[in-house]
Amino acid sequence: MSKILVIHGPNLNLLGSREPEIYGKETLDGVNEQIKTLASNEGISIEIKQSNHEGEIVDMIGNARDDFDLILINPAAYTHTSVAIRDAISAVGIPAIEVHLSNIYSREEFRHTSLIAPVCHGQVSGFGVHSYILGLQAAIEMLKYSSK
Ligand code: DQA
Repeated sequence: MSKILVIHGPNLNLLGSREPEIYGKETLDGVNEQIKTLASNEGISIEIKQSNHEGEIVDMIGNARDDFDLILINPAAYTHTSVAIRDAISAVGIPAIEVHLSNIYSREEFRHTSLIAPVCHGQVSGFGVHSYILGLQAAIEMLKYSSK
């Protein structure tokens, strides 16, 4: 059974109350329920983690090598700043997909650059909670092809 690690970056624990006009009203638990439902319908094993700390996220990625087939990550603010997370994804050598609730390209200029995207298989940005679902569907398709 394929195994996917989902990583939520900083401040995503505040979903639901955090700037709902940008990020929506769904809580992180609600997002995770939707992710788990899709994964279980597709027969995919999933583990979900959230951290507000860059080093912890680097460790999560570094430790994923033996246990996971793919990483689905919303690096949140670290998208725009973290060479360490980018290098961890490059180093670990398993595919990653980047997701964002908001459309980072329609917001402030500092959000237009993702340091993470160039080392990811692809990126989904701007569809609210559905970004995670679309990212997960893409991940599942990728894993199906790679296991053939
Ligand atoms: C975000 C976009 C980032 O720019 C921001 O710092 C976040 C959330 C998103 O999901 O839209 O924390 O990653």
